[in-house]
Amino acid sequence: MLPVEIKPGITWVGVNDRITELFEGLWTIRQEGVSYNSYLIRDDKTVVIDLCKSMLTGEFVTQLEDLVPLEKIDFVVVNHMEPDHTGALRTLIKKAPQVQIIGTAKTRDMLREFYGITENVRAVADGETIDLGHHTLRFVVAPFLHWPETMMTYEEKEQILFSCDAFGSYGALNGSIFDDLVDDLNWYEQEALRYYTNIVAIFPKPVRKALEKLANVPVQILAPSHGLVWRKDPKRIIDLYDRWSNLATEPADPGVTMIYASMYGNSEAVMEAVAQGVVDAGLPLKIFNISKTPMSYILPHLLTRNGVLIGAPTYEGGLFPEMAAAMRVAEGKRMYNRKAAYFGSHAWAGGAEREFRALAQELQWEVLDTFNFVGTPSREELTKAREFGRTFASKLK
Ligand SMILES: Cc1cc2nc3c(=O)[nH]c(=O)nc-3n(C[C@H](O)[C@H](O)[C@H](O)COP(=O)(O)O)c2cc1C
Ligand SMILES: [Fe+2]
Ligand SMILES: [Fe+2]
Repeated sequence: MLPVEIKPGITWVGVNDRITELFEGLWTIRQEGVSYNSYLIRDDKTVVIDLCKSMLTGEFVTQLEDLVPLEKIDFVVVNHMEPDHTGALRTLIKKAPQVQIIGTAKTRDMLREFYGITENVRAVADGETIDLGHHTLRFVVAPFLHWPETMMTYEEKEQILFSCDAFGSYGALNGSIFDDLVDDLNWYEQEALRYYTNIVAIFPKPVRKALEKLANVPVQILAPSHGLVWRKDPKRIIDLYDRWSNLATEPADPGVTMIYASMYGNSEAVMEAVAQGVVDAGLPLKIFNISKTPMSYILPHLLTRNGVLIGAPTYEGGLFPEMAAAMRVAEGKRMYNRKAAYFGSHAWAGGAEREFRALAQELQWEVLDTFNFVGTPSREELTKAREFGRTFASKLK
C-alpha cells in the first residue's frame, strides 16, 4: 500500500503480508493475511515507530525512502522486539547508522541477543518523554503485551496511542487503514478476537494492568502495529479488550463450543444427536471438527462461551491425539473455568475419558457429565445422547 497520512506530519508506512501462511509458524493467516504497521513522524526530529518482518524489508525501506532521506531519521522506536516488528532493523541502520534506537532496558538486551546491536541504543523508563518539536512522545511500559520488553508509545499532541501488538488484529488491510473506511468492520473485530486468543490471551493480567494504566489517557487514535487504525471509535477496541481480558475470570456468555473428532463416524453420529439436544435447550452452538479446523479459529469460541463439549474416540488407550493436543493449546491460552462434558466411542478398554478428565482438571473445567459407548451407537444410545446434550446445555443458562 502507499503511505497514508494519519495527521499532519504523522504517516502510516506499513506493509501488508499476504505471503505468510502461519503467523508465528502456528496460526493460520492463509486466507486473511496480516499487516505490519509502521509509523513515520516528521517534525524537528524524525521518528519511525515499529518496523516489519524481514522478508518485506525491501518494500518497507523503499517507501520510507520515498518520504524521507534515511540519513534524516533521528529515532527508531522499538515498542516490541518480536521479529515481525524488527526484522527490517539491521538493514535500516546499515543505511542510516545515525539512528538512535529507543526501547525499554530489556529491549536493549534483546537487541544485542537478536541482532548484535549495542550502539546508539537508548533505554527509556516508564513515563519518559522525548520532545520532537511540535510533538512529544511518551513511553508507556506494558510488559507481556506481548513479551517482557514491550512498551507502547503515546503521541501527546494528537493523542495517538501506538500500541504495537495490543489492540491489533490479523487481516491484511484491504484498501484502507481506518476503521471508518472499511465496510467489514465486523470481520476485523473477529480477526482482532482471533489474534487476541491466539497471541495475547495467555496474559490476561498484563492486559488488565495496561488497561488500568491507560484509563486516564485520552486516546483520539489507536494505532496498533497489526490491523486497523481506530480513529472513529478507538473506545470500541479498548472495550473489547476489557471484555476479553475479563473472560479469564468472569463467566462467559451461555453457549456451547462443541469440538469433536471421529475416525469411522461413531463419535460423529453421537455428536449429531448431542447437538440436537443443545439446540433443544435453546443454547447457541458452534461445532468444530478438530481434524479439519485449526485451533486458531476455535479459541475465540472457547473464550466467549461458557460451555465446552468434547467428543472423541479412544485412540491407543487415550484421548484421540489431536483432541488432547487441542486441550493443551486451550490450557496454554488460559481458557479456564468452563463447564464441560465428554462423549466418545471405544472398542475395548477405552481410556479417552481418563485423559480428558486429566486435561480438564488442568483447565479447571468443571466436568458435568460424560457419555461413553462401545462401537457404533444404537438408536437408544442416540436418544440418550440427545438427552445428554440437552441436560448439559440447560445447566449453562
Ligand atoms: C488406531 C486405533 C487405535 C485404537 N485404540 C483403542 C484403544 O486403545 N482402546 C479402545 O477401547 N479402543 C481403541 N480403538 C477403537 C476405537 O476407539 C473405536 O473403533 C471407536 O468406535 C472409534 O470411534 P469413531 O468412529 O468415532 O472414530 C482404536 C481404534 C483405532 C483405529
Ligand atoms: Fe508480538
Ligand atoms: Fe506483532
